[in-house]
Amino acid sequence: MLFVCLGNICRSPMAEGAFRVAAQERGLAVLVDSAGTASYHLGLEPDPRAIAAARANGIDIAGQAARQIERDDFYRFSHIIAMDRANLESLQSKAPRAGTARLAMLLDAVEGRRGEPVADPYYGDAAAFEAAWQVISRGTQAWADKLLRESTQASA
Ligand code: 4NP
Repeated sequence: MLFVCLGNICRSPMAEGAFRVAAQERGLAVLVDSAGTASYHLGLEPDPRAIAAARANGIDIAGQAARQIERDDFYRFSHIIAMDRANLESLQSKAPRAGTARLAMLLDAVEGRRGEPVADPYYGDAAAFEAAWQVISRGTQAWADKLLRESTQASA
């Protein structure tokens, strides 16, 4: 699972952290990472407000470093999950023709919320980051549930 937003310093690092825990809780062994469609923040750790929101919810994301999506990602990951429609469109335009990753939006896995974006909290306050965390947590748990269902179906 590769989670993607614009800068890879706010939403997708929170999604990476939340999904790691959701996968672990369900006993899923999955390659997890995050990336940005843009290159503004390469090598930087997540925004301090994203680190704080994750920490307030018991998850440490401080060790992450921002990177940009690359060609190999479309072959290495089975799913590339965008936070909003602009991220998805950017991924669609970068995807190699023979890429094997499935592209989707985070809330596509949440019943009744297909196609909804995770609002960018970058210009918001701590409350905007907490709200983003809650939405992201919901979305990542839904993806983990979906992968678990698919893996138990496949082995049945
Ligand atoms: P992210 O948030 O895409 O969730 O990491 C943003 C980070 C940086 C900028 C915009 C959004 N920026 O314009 O620098």
